[in-house]
Amino acid sequence: MDGLEALRARYLGEIGAAADEAALEAVRLAALGRKGEISLRMRKLGGMDPEARKVAGPALNGLRDEVEAALRARRAALADAVLEARLQAEWLDVTLPARPRPGGSIHPVSQVMEELTAIFADMGFAVAEGPQVETDWHNFDALNIPPEHPARQEHDTFFLHRLEGDNRPPHVLRTHTSPVQIRAMLAQGAPLRVIAPGRVYRMDMDQTHTPMFHQVEGLAIDRDISMAQLKWVLEEFCRAFFEVEGVELRFRASHFPFTEPSAEVDIRCSWAGGQLKIGEGDDWLEILGSGMVHPHVLRSGGVDPAQWQGFAFGMGIDRIAMLKYGIPDLRAFFESDLRWLRHYGFAALEVPTLPGGLSR
Ligand code: DAH
Repeated sequence: MDGLEALRARYLGEIGAAADEAALEAVRLAALGRKGEISLRMRKLGGMDPEARKVAGPALNGLRDEVEAALRARRAALADAVLEARLQAEWLDVTLPARPRPGGSIHPVSQVMEELTAIFADMGFAVAEGPQVETDWHNFDALNIPPEHPARQEHDTFFLHRLEGDNRPPHVLRTHTSPVQIRAMLAQGAPLRVIAPGRVYRMDMDQTHTPMFHQVEGLAIDRDISMAQLKWVLEEFCRAFFEVEGVELRFRASHFPFTEPSAEVDIRCSWAGGQLKIGEGDDWLEILGSGMVHPHVLRSGGVDPAQWQGFAFGMGIDRIAMLKYGIPDLRAFFESDLRWLRHYGFAALEVPTLPGGLSR
């Protein structure tokens, strides 16, 4: 058939030269569109005599297939080129150091939680968690604080509303992190070594109390845990945490329903000139309660007191944050004052670790 060879050369040439998707589509329409050159020729096949059609038909079909294949190949090549250009334009250097964002900072309470988690993790304590809305049983009974116990009054508890007709004791906002002891024992059994940092709530508000504050609970259970180990762990913690030579602790005999014997621990500090300082002075600030876990408490957690014993402690996180970073007023912690946050906050990308340094 006349001119097929020329047609072929022209279209393959134009396809090869098409610089983008639109140019390629124009070539396709000119060749294979409804009024395209090749389409029109194919339509004429019907009017040919049979002999001529036998030759022209296959030749035209072959040309059409060839042009279609060339279009597909060129289309794929163009798409590759577009992708390649994007990859060239949109690269980033992942080896660049991250830029600290101005304006955002880590709250001292979060910072201190990271710090103490790193220290206790190094001593083999895992982190356990419990809900802030707690059952009366976990918060009190299981910890050897029965309904008539005076300790219940001391806790200034927030109670949640009960549904009409529900006669169970109301849920509470947990007044301490101690219920996590029960949850951890029930979930993991003995032996056990956990800390549980988190929020707690009491109806209380003055210069040293806020209705929400933070505690970290500690619990170690094994066959032969002793008070001496409790003392070592707490002293070791304070040495690592305060990063000050000569941190001095005072253990005072005390009473808690969930421990026997019990001790409160104070830390030596100075309030001279309204500045709170650690490692000097004649003042003492109470930072934690502790003791040997009461057998009733072990039993509540499904742990057999004939085989296991343990120590526990509950420490005020806000308190130790104030002490370490010289922050005089607890209430400022929760006022969200940007100037305060910028002053006392920490760089967001510097995660405290023992080898890397706790606070910088
Ligand atoms: N739960 C106590 C409180 O909030 C603190 C405490 C005291 C926790 C002694 C303990 C402990 O684990 O052994 O006042």
